Amino acid sequence: MARLIYSSVLLTLYLSLQAFLGSNAQLTDFLSIDCGATNPYNDVQLGLKWETDDNYIKTGVTKRMKEAQDFPKQLYSYRSFPSRSNKNCYIMPVITHTTYLLRVRLFPGVVGEKYSVALPVDFNVTFVSNLFFTYSALTDKDRVDVIYESVFHSFQREEISLCLLQGSKGTPFINSIELRGLPDTSYHVTRDVGDAKVLVLGERLNMGTKPGDNSFFRYPDDEFDRFWWSTPRTRFPFNRVDGSSMIGDLFFKFYEPNTNRIGENWPPNRTYIDAWVGPEFSFELPRKREDTNKIYTAFYFKDVRPDSQANFSNYSFVEWITVTVGDVSDNIWLCCLRDENWGVFEDVQLYDRFIHVNVSHKNDSSIESIVLNGFEYYYKYDFDISSTYSRDIRAVGDLLVSFQLEDFQGDPCFPVSWDWLTCDLDASRIQKLKLSHMNISGPIPENISSLVELTEIYLDNNNLEGPIPYSLTSLTKLRIL
Ligand SMILES: *[C@@H]1O[C@H](CO)[C@@H](O)[C@H](O)[C@H]1NC(C)=O
Ligand SMILES: *[C@@H]1O[C@H](CO)[C@@H](O)[C@H](O)[C@H]1NC(C)=O
Ligand SMILES: *[C@@H]1O[C@H](CO)[C@@H](O)[C@H](O)[C@H]1NC(C)=O
Ligand SMILES: *[C@@H]1O[C@H](CO)[C@@H](O)[C@H](O)[C@H]1NC(C)=O
Ligand SMILES: *[C@@H]1O[C@H](CO)[C@@H](O)[C@H](O)[C@H]1NC(C)=O
Ligand SMILES: *[C@@H]1O[C@H](CO)[C@@H](O)[C@H](O)[C@H]1NC(C)=O
Ligand SMILES: *[C@@H]1O[C@H](CO)[C@@H](O)[C@H](O)[C@H]1NC(C)=O
Ligand SMILES: *[C@@H]1O[C@H](CO)[C@@H](O)[C@H](O)[C@H]1NC(C)=O
Repeated sequence: MARLIYSSVLLTLYLSLQAFLGSNAQLTDFLSIDCGATNPYNDVQLGLKWETDDNYIKTGVTKRMKEAQDFPKQLYSYRSFPSRSNKNCYIMPVITHTTYLLRVRLFPGVVGEKYSVALPVDFNVTFVSNLFFTYSALTDKDRVDVIYESVFHSFQREEISLCLLQGSKGTPFINSIELRGLPDTSYHVTRDVGDAKVLVLGERLNMGTKPGDNSFFRYPDDEFDRFWWSTPRTRFPFNRVDGSSMIGDLFFKFYEPNTNRIGENWPPNRTYIDAWVGPEFSFELPRKREDTNKIYTAFYFKDVRPDSQANFSNYSFVEWITVTVGDVSDNIWLCCLRDENWGVFEDVQLYDRFIHVNVSHKNDSSIESIVLNGFEYYYKYDFDISSTYSRDIRAVGDLLVSFQLEDFQGDPCFPVSWDWLTCDLDASRIQKLKLSHMNISGPIPENISSLVELTEIYLDNNNLEGPIPYSLTSLTKLRIL
């Protein structure tokens, strides 16, 4: 489905690609894949169109569980990978120079359902060459809907791979994959050329929701379809919230975001409807990932300007606040700058097992309250774009065609190599082909000789015909054939 983003750059790109590719173009800024589904369908409630995953992966088997209430349709079908390969990859189109939200959902099914995923299972999911997450469901209490999100920038890419890597237990599976184009200016840290980061979501919170509300909202309330989770006191793991209370249904004037402003993440209007209000907020969130100590945080504050339409007759508000997360502290001026109702700290260092947040105001006798509407934090990683040397990719591509191994998708060497080849990861070159017992047939392609770094080739126990190509004599490093 084609949704337009209010970003002239993205819009232009999208339209020109459409023109170029014709009406069958797959490229859109929203891609919603229901893995294992048998037919595409419209999600009437959300207003989103879901596709099957047939066009994006060549391996695995599809499974369908019996539908029951309370779960979205996508969670009842999944693709499972009991296959011969240690790595199974989806390849999905992206628009170049665009920031994306990538979301994956995993639901192993309920106890007693015939087609539920067998536990225990653990595996890693990667995109490009980054570890996205490690999934682990060991017992029936892990039979819950798990949602992972990441934000990255496409740069020159026209497609990205998302791979499931076989773990130590069970059979990897996946329920849905969603790609959402984000506005041009958002999550700027992902698009610093030469120092690009990928963000993996820790929490995205809509502050001030009512007690007992464990839900989240998404599209169409957030036009970019981020999930905003509620923060009921009963669930939110506060150590303390000082003096805050919840306020609901505050309506006030919104301003057209200035799309040229760096750091603007375009939080949805609905985030601003309720809030925490108090003289100071201080809370701690448990740290979920240990493989980085850097996080990116964004705070969204109510517009507190005097001409705002909010009914704040019972509150008087601060102009300056001090926000501290981890080791970073800064003042945010809330009062009179038109758009300054957000704050982003791109480079917070974690020093223990918690993420400490403190929002307070400077001492000023006229001030009383702070309103906090939304908060996001992400774990931050260098964008790992390692890939196999391009000539080796082309040569091995020819090999996949000759030997009918085309269901091997993704990069040959990264983030882990296919189990039938070995790579020199520092040089990004393919070193060994271990094709014994692969049931491959046909002639040995001349093009193997393009893999000039090969030291070993194993082709025994297959149905190969014809001579060994003369060109192999050009492989000076070849020791074993
Ligand atoms: C997942 O990735 C982590 C980090 O690279 C690694 O330590 C772990 O062994 C992997 N686990 C599986 C199941 O592949
Ligand atoms: C947010 O509010 C503004 C002003 O009321 C409105 O123009 C805009 O369409 C709203 N955005 C969404 C996505 O509802
Ligand atoms: C604001 O609230 C007060 C008291 O609740 C009410 O009297 C007043 O009319 C409200 N103002 C607006 C603009 O809604
Ligand atoms: C303002 O405070 C008064 C008295 O505490 C309360 O009755 C009223 O509902 C409050 N109004 C709003 C808009 O919160
Ligand atoms: C939050 O920051 C303010 C200002 O720096 C400080 O006075 C207050 O003690 C802090 N609160 C906590 C719980 O650390
Ligand atoms: C705030 O400032 C006033 C005047 O400078 C001072 O009297 C008061 O003690 C201060 N309050 C706090 C909590 O520091
Ligand atoms: C592989 O062989 C085909 C035909 O023999 C040739 O067109 C192609 O360029 C070769 N590829 C490489 C990478 O050498
Ligand atoms: C081997 O490949 C042939 C055709 O290429 C196929 O008919 C046969 O089923 C395969 N055997 C195995 C064990 O996969």
